[in-house]
Formats: sequence, structure tokens, C-alpha cells
Amino acid sequence: MRCDCIGQEAVNRLALFKNSNAKGRSLKLTMNPYFIGLMSGTSLDGIDAALVEFGERRPTLIDTHYEPYAPELKVELSKVCYTNWVDITTLGYLDARLGEMFGLCAGALLEKSRIPPDKVGGIGCHGQTIQHHPHGAFPYSLQIGDPNRIAEITGITTVADFRRRDIAAKGQGAPLAPAFHQAVFHSDDENRVVLNIGGIANITVLPKLPNKLILGFDSGPGNTLLDYWIKRQLAKSMDENGEWARSGRVHQPLLRLLLGDPYFKLDPPKSTGQEYFSPDWLGRYLARTEEKLRPEDIQATLCQLTADASTIAIGRYGGKPDRVLVCGGGIHNELLLGKLRANLDCPVQSTAVLGVHPDWVEAAAFAWLAKRTLENLPGNQPAATGALHPVVLGGIYPGCGLKDSQLFTRSSR
Ligand SMILES: Nc1ncnc2c1ncn2[C@@H]1O[C@H](COP(=O)(O)OP(=O)(O)O)[C@@H](O)[C@H]1O
Ligand SMILES: [Mg+2]
Repeated sequence: MRCDCIGQEAVNRLALFKNSNAKGRSLKLTMNPYFIGLMSGTSLDGIDAALVEFGERRPTLIDTHYEPYAPELKVELSKVCYTNWVDITTLGYLDARLGEMFGLCAGALLEKSRIPPDKVGGIGCHGQTIQHHPHGAFPYSLQIGDPNRIAEITGITTVADFRRRDIAAKGQGAPLAPAFHQAVFHSDDENRVVLNIGGIANITVLPKLPNKLILGFDSGPGNTLLDYWIKRQLAKSMDENGEWARSGRVHQPLLRLLLGDPYFKLDPPKSTGQEYFSPDWLGRYLARTEEKLRPEDIQATLCQLTADASTIAIGRYGGKPDRVLVCGGGIHNELLLGKLRANLDCPVQSTAVLGVHPDWVEAAAFAWLAKRTLENLPGNQPAATGALHPVVLGGIYPGCGLKDSQLFTRSSR
């Protein structure tokens, strides 16, 4: 049934439901202090797992685990992510395989930390985005990694599918980390911007004034094009510390062309993905450049693009930050960080200065979002996603309460 056919009775029921939620009725679960966040971003590098303790004060990162994707899995996922055509059996198989991997990754984290699973209040799994289309008559965002398997393997209640509820509330489903950034990095004394450089880069604007809106949006490409170009030219998975880009020279006419892309001129709320800033996207602009460029000059230009697009976003919407806090894998690219420092006239620092290691911020955000959902509290920031109102995010997959001995037998199968 289409939504324009909903009868008055259903509309009334929906209104009642919204009111009961608006009062913030909590499920009053007895919460354990530990939560696990599982994150796998557009870089398709692997799974970040973070065990976070939520006590009286700021969240504390207790332990972490990283599970890289095998090269053949990365190839399979890239095919699904970069094309508009995928057969249903491949999708089903990848969903199951990733669900198992996420579950085992959470199990490995627990084993490492020696925290028994019955002390963990929940797992928040972002899943692997394979398509993000926040526009059109029926916008959608698709993450895979079957959460039923995570709950079954770990015995821990799992929250997943965070983005689609925000989209149903007319938001873009992204970015979702701003509410967490606000909870952890806000200061009453200075204006801050958080810049997360994953495959795609996104910023969160945290004004010091409490009544100002928290803004957050995708500023453009982060590492995705850098990874693609070095893979294609040198068969390497990343440009370590930006060394290859450093050997080239920024090609200013190409940079101007790339920065002229309409995405950079759009006002927020806005979000994007690797299906937009794709190899085809780069190919179209390269085809418009008159000279034949050296591959390392293209890499240098792409690195400058990430730095400049982030700087433009911060300059337009960042409200003169007193400092910019950087997280995500891009922080390890020294050339990129140097370019950001040269562009911005405030300190550019790692989130580690505020106690959260930059590699684990996004995974910790999904631990926090799972906790919000299980407390029946909203997790989105409507100013960031464009949603009509705050919503409780995700679907809940109840755990069956395994003891740790059972967990470790299951995860070693
Ligand atoms: N030492 C490094 N030098 C340059 N780039 C790096 C380095 N370490 C990580 N990266 C970049 O960070 C990416 C992973 O970042 P991540 O935050 O996990 O992104 P995502 O959230 O999209 O998965 C890698 O694909 C790579 O491009
Ligand atoms: Mg990653």
C-alpha cells in the first residue's frame, strides 16, 4: 500500500505513537556499561571494532580490534559498491559472509579484552554500505552484514540498519556521527570542528554556544580516490603517508576542474558516497584535461582535492573554529595533514588530544548509537541529516545471553 492510502485511523495511531516517543519513554533496561561498535566504511579496508565503557563521565575506549578484508573480498565488495548492477545471489552471500565476519570480529575483541559477553549491553553495527542514494522519489541507503548472525554468534543484542529510519523521517541517513561528536568533543569554551577522513570525508561543526545547531555533512572525497588511483597505477592498497603524492606536483587546472564539481557548491544537509566520487567521476574530469598528466601528479592533485574540499566546507560552515580535530584513516597521511595545516589558520590536531584515538572514533560512535537505541533515545541530529525530527535509529536483534565459554567455542568454528 502506498503511503497516500493510509487511512485517518492509522494517521491518528501514528500521531499517538510519536507523542509517546516524544516523551522519551525509556525501555528502562538495566544497562551494562560496555558497548561494542562495529564500523566498516567506504574505504573497504576492513572492520574496526571498539569496546567502549559508558560511565558517569565521557565514554572510555577499553579495547579495540581490527579485522582487514581479504583482498578477494575487497574486490568482490568493490564490484558491488561501484556498479549499479548486482545479482541477488552475490548480494545474499556477501550479506551472510559479512554478518559472520562482524560477529567473529566482536568475539575476537571480547576475547582479547577478557570482558565476558554478559557484561556487554549491546553491539552497534553500521554494516558495509554498498549503495547510498539519499535523493529522488524513493531515497535509500543500503548496508549489508546480517545482524542476526552477530547476535547469534556473540549472544549479545545487536542494533543495526541505523540509516534507514532517518531516511524514513525525510533525512539523508548520514552523517550519523555528529550526535556522538557533540557528546564527546563539545566544549563550552571554544568552537570546534571534527573532520573525519574516511573513504569520504565529513565534518561536524560544534559551536561553543549551547543553543546553536550542530551541523554535519560530507565535505567530499577523503581517501577513496587516493586509494583507487594508487591501486590502479601501482597495485598498492594505499599511498602510505602520502609518499607517492609527494613525488608529484599538483596540477592546478585539474584541481580547479575537480573543485568545480556541483557537489562542493551544494548547501548542507548533504551526504555522498563512493558511488558518486567514483573512478568514473575521476575519469570524466581527466578526459577533459588537455595535457597528458603523470600519474603521480594526479595523485598529488587528488590529495590537494581532499584537503581543499574539507577546507572549503570548514570555511563556509565551520563558524571560525578555534581548532579542528581530525579522525579517520586519512590522519595517517602526513602529506594530507600538512596540506590541511597549511590551509587552516587554527590548530589541526588528532582527536587523541581529547582522549579518543582517531582510528576508533567512528566505531565508538556506533557503540554509542546502539546504547541510545536500546534506551529508546534518538541518535540522529536533524540539523545534520535533514530529518524532520529526532528518531530512535536502527533495528534490534535480541541476543540470547551466552556465557564467555560458549562465545569462544562459537567464534572459533
Ligand atoms: N599510513 C597511512 N598513510 C596514508 N593513508 C592511510 C594510512 N593509514 C590509513 N590510511 C587511509 O585510511 C583509509 C582507511 O580509513 P578509514 O577511516 O578506515 O576509512 P573508512 O571509514 O572509509 O573505512 C585507508 O584506505 C587509507 O586510504
Ligand atoms: Mg575503515
